[in-house]
Amino acid sequence: MPLPAPLPVDLSGIRLDPARGLARQLYQALRERILDGRLASGTRLPASRDLAGLLGIARNTVIRAFDQLYAEGFVEGRIGAGTYVAELAAVVRPPPAPPSVAAPSQALQRLQQHHLPGALEGAPRAFRVGVPAFDLFPFETWARLSARFWRKPSAARLGYGDPAGDAQLRELIAAYLRNGRGLHCDPTQILVTCGAQQAISLCAQLLVEPGDRVAIENPGYRAAGHAFAVAGAELAGIAVDGEGLDTAALERAGRCRLAYVTPSHQYPTGVTLSLARRLELLDWAERHDSWIIEDDYDGEYRYSGTPLAPLAALDRQGRVLYVGTFCKIAFPALRLGYLLLPAGLAEAFARRRALDMRHSEIGSQAVMAEFIAAGHFQRHIRRMRGAARSRRDALLAGWPQQVPGCAPLPAVEAGLHLCVRVDSLARERQLIASAAEVGVELNALSDYWLADSEVPEDRRAGLVLGFAAVPETRIAQALQALRRAWGV
Ligand SMILES: Cc1ncc(COP(=O)(O)O)c(C=O)c1O
Repeated sequence: MPLPAPLPVDLSGIRLDPARGLARQLYQALRERILDGRLASGTRLPASRDLAGLLGIARNTVIRAFDQLYAEGFVEGRIGAGTYVAELAAVVRPPPAPPSVAAPSQALQRLQQHHLPGALEGAPRAFRVGVPAFDLFPFETWARLSARFWRKPSAARLGYGDPAGDAQLRELIAAYLRNGRGLHCDPTQILVTCGAQQAISLCAQLLVEPGDRVAIENPGYRAAGHAFAVAGAELAGIAVDGEGLDTAALERAGRCRLAYVTPSHQYPTGVTLSLARRLELLDWAERHDSWIIEDDYDGEYRYSGTPLAPLAALDRQGRVLYVGTFCKIAFPALRLGYLLLPAGLAEAFARRRALDMRHSEIGSQAVMAEFIAAGHFQRHIRRMRGAARSRRDALLAGWPQQVPGCAPLPAVEAGLHLCVRVDSLARERQLIASAAEVGVELNALSDYWLADSEVPEDRRAGLVLGFAAVPETRIAQALQALRRAWGV
């Protein structure tokens, strides 16, 4: 058999594995040689027949590899008239040095300093915090509404929509807030977000200048604090007592650009901000020309007594930005929430959102709109409230009477979690560790404080328990396991 003709270029070292796609491997080998300069611009590649002979593969395989290189601009010319490596000066340049990590931007540094919340993976267990009874969500109904929307979506809703959110959903949210929360608002003030967290983060991006002071509850919702800190704010932790945020302490904190609060159910202590404090807080904002972010993350869960008017309903000067979410009524992964904005801010927030992500995905917005319009939402709120109440009762009734070092459980009138004080940090750690050993999740109250709090460490200790995540039977099992683990 005659030897194949010698090749005009050095293609030694090309080894093809017959078990994998040959054309792809040849294409990759040639491309690699073009990119690293071993095959210089203008080099004539061997004729497909010669290369096939040398490599012991079919000519068609070589032609397919050449075609791919041709399509991507690595080679030029016609097969038959010669195939040449294209002029690729820009591509063949040695790769640029990786960006220096020695001087990260200030924004990057701030982000690295703050441990942002990680995923809480897996199905909920007792007593996971921040999770509603999503085992009760009417997925059948949701699936039906979803199928109906996607079967025949209106063309008007499939393009680049309003960055403030789907018009129908915004109207329904505004009506819900007027009827259910006593807020005076119209749909132009509503901005649909990816959950309360994004609403808070947008406030941080748009209302805070680096170096501004921001007042947050201490202890409080750390992910809100992180959002403000990452925007460059200096955090001023304000004490919380039996009436909620201590407004006298807020006065002493000096000029703050804004205050972030959870008035209906303080996170994590569970206290409700009293009416007197609400009025003082609004007065503070007026006098200091500051903003208030009212995070009403679990406002739908009220078990007794009449809910107090939200700050946004008492606000006469347009200083309150009200944050709401569907994630505590439906399920967190839905990532759907909203902001009710003072009229003067609505346009700017929508513009910012347009730059971030244009707008939320239409499917979940449209289906939520239908879910509300058809009355399922209100029904579901009632069902969720009832379920959370009886899960709360199961926890309160079954909690061991005497847990050494642990205060008795408080009365719980609202929300999805409760908070109980423990008399030292060491005891808090012990209780949590032995609960974890028997598969029960408890959160440490000490984790909700700012690191530089003046409050002595032992006074920061406690347990935070979510009671809505799992049904009563599993609550009873978890309490039994706790009794064994704690020997009570
Ligand atoms: C006080 C508070 N605000 C906001 C959020 C975030 O809610 P979303 O899931 O809607 O982003 C949480 C979540 O646990 C929370 O506890």
